[in-house]
Parts: sequence; structure tokens; C-alpha cells
Amino acid sequence: MLIHIPKILTAEQVTHVRAELDKAEWADGRNTAGYLSQRVKDNTQVPDMHPVGKQLGQMILGILEKHPLFTSAALPLKVVPPLFNRYTGNQNYGRHVDGAIRPVAGTPFRVRTDLSATLFLTAPEDYDGGELVIEDTFGPRRIKLPAGDMVLYPGTSVHHVEPVTRGTRLASFFWIQSMVRDDTQRTLLFNLDTSIQQLGRDVPQHPAVVQLAGVYHNLLRLWADA
Ligand code: NI
Repeated sequence: MLIHIPKILTAEQVTHVRAELDKAEWADGRNTAGYLSQRVKDNTQVPDMHPVGKQLGQMILGILEKHPLFTSAALPLKVVPPLFNRYTGNQNYGRHVDGAIRPVAGTPFRVRTDLSATLFLTAPEDYDGGELVIEDTFGPRRIKLPAGDMVLYPGTSVHHVEPVTRGTRLASFFWIQSMVRDDTQRTLLFNLDTSIQQLGRDVPQHPAVVQLAGVYHNLLRLWADA
């Protein structure tokens, strides 16, 4: 399942993040790519342990923790602290699959990358190209979102970033290990949760709302690891 989560960051927060990123030193993105991806990756990133990146990453994690749509869609168990990348002057990232297991820099912890996330930090009108293209069963999906918006997609997908032919594309990217590792089960739970919430708003007194909430939680109990 591919989900667009609008307005993770407000316009003010986007401005703040971009101003902070201006102060960071950027490094070759190949430093963090696996053997195969190195050959197709051409961008720059704020290094894992850079204080600016760490601080901004923590800020984004704090926002995600309180975000109901993100929580319902991802059912997060562990989140890799967000990283930041930049593409300019025809830079791009060719077709690749993200590694299944991601170490968390500076810790002994590892995260299974059930879900990938890209949080856009540049307004689409400020650059050409730079679409995140995700190959799913319906064919390629081309994603280019407003600054502050995020896309969540299965970590299993083949994807690439188109060359940025004008301007600069800034984004934050990270991975999530979900309590429910299977995308089909997670999607079912998300759709059920969304329906229950809608019923809860429209017919709050209906006894089936509680019953359905029970079904949701009992499925979660069956499928989740916490
Ligand atoms: Ni990737």
C-alpha cells in the first residue's frame, strides 16, 4: 500500500528544517548505499551522526509519534532516525531496492525496513524532475508532493528518483519496522481502522462500532509483534 500523508510539517517547520540543513556539511550519498545501489546512486546526504541531522531527525520523530494517520498506517515498532538527502544538477538515484535490515547509526540496534518513507522538503514548483517512482503491481507510480508531505510505501518495492534537471530537491527519508510485518495484513488493519473511525463519527451510538473495534484489536493481537 502506498499512502500520502499530507502536512507532516507545517510551512514554518519546513522553513526551519531547510534553514538548519543549510548549516550542515553534506557528504556523498554513496557512503550509506549497499554494493549494488552504490552504482546507481548520485546524491548528497547529511552524514548519519551529524548534529544538525540528528536534531532535525528527532524533531520529525516527535511529530510522527503523535500523528494518528501515520500511526494507523504504519503501526510502527521502530523507526530509523530520519536522514536527509539533496539532488541537484541532474543527480538521481537509479532503480534499486532498499536493504532489508538497517543499522541505527551509533547504536547496536537494527531495524527491519517494512516501510520506506520520503518526506518532501522542497515545493514541487521549485525544481524539475526528481519524482520518486515506485514500481507497484499497478505499474510505476510517480510521486512528487508538496513540501511537508510524506509518502509511505512498502520497503519491498523497486523504486528510483528521476534526475533533477532544475533547482534542488531536498527530502528526508527513513524506514519503519512495523508491528505487523506483512503489507496485506497491515493494509487490512488500516482500512478497518479508517472505517471504524468514520462510523464512530457518523453513528457514534451504534453498538456495532464497539464490536468492530473489538475485531480490529483482536486481529491486531493475532498479527502484531510488540
Ligand atoms: Ni531507496
